[in-house]
Amino acid sequence: MLVAGNWKMYKGTSETVEFCTALAERLEAIDGVDVAVCPPYTALAAAVRTLAGTEIAVAAQNVHWAEEGAYTGEISAPMLRELGVYGAIVGHSERRQYFGETDETVARRAEAGLDAGLHMIACVGETGPERKGGQTEAVLRRQVSVLRPDDNLVIAYEPVWAIGTGLSATPELAQEAHALIKSLLEVPVLYGGSVKPENAAELLAQPAVDGALVGGASLDVESFVAICEAAARTPR
Ligand code: PGA
Repeated sequence: MLVAGNWKMYKGTSETVEFCTALAERLEAIDGVDVAVCPPYTALAAAVRTLAGTEIAVAAQNVHWAEEGAYTGEISAPMLRELGVYGAIVGHSERRQYFGETDETVARRAEAGLDAGLHMIACVGETGPERKGGQTEAVLRRQVSVLRPDDNLVIAYEPVWAIGTGLSATPELAQEAHALIKSLLEVPVLYGGSVKPENAAELLAQPAVDGALVGGASLDVESFVAICEAAARTPR
C-alpha cells in the first residue's frame, strides 16, 4: 500500500518544514504502508532535508522529458535526482485540463523519469461527461496504452469528476476501473479523488486498490495520518 499526498500549489518552505516534522513524528509508530509527500518544486529541498532519515518519500508533481534544454518553466529528472527526490507525478488531470498535457507528453515525461531512476505515479481518469457518455473504458484504455510497465511505475486512477469535489467514486466503481487498468498494465493502481479519513478504509479494502493519491485531505497532518493508518490496517 502506498499513500501519496499531492499538495498541488499549497505550502511554501516554512509550512513544509512544519508539516514534515509533525508527519514524521506521527508516522514513526505506523508500519505496513509506504508514504510519500508531493510538495511544490520550491519546497522539495526542504521536504527532503526534513524527512532525511525517515521512511517518508518526497516526490515532485511533474517532470520534463529532456535532461536539460530550452524549456522555460520546466524541471528535469536529473535536477530532481540531485535534490534527493524519490519520484514524480505525471499526467495529473489538472495538468491535462489547464496546461495542455496530452497522452503523448505524459508518456514522454513518465519514460524520462523512469529512465533517470525516479519512481513515477502516472495519473489517468475519465471526466464526468465521458463517464456519462459511456466512454470510461475507452478513455482509460487510451490513457494507459501509452505507458509501459516498469517496476518503478504506479498508476493513479483519478476520475476527474471526483477530484476536489467531495464526491469520491464508490468502492465498486473504483474496483471496476482498477481491475480494467490492471488487466492492461501489471502495475499497482492508487485511487485518487476526494479520499478522506471517512471513506479511505472502504476504498482501500477493494482488492484492486493498492493505495491512494490524496489531494485536499493530505494538507492537514491529522487527516493525512488517518488515511495512512487506514491503509496500514488494510489486510493484504
Ligand atoms: P482531492 O485531489 O483528494 O482533493 O480530490 C486528488 C488529486 O487531485 O490528486
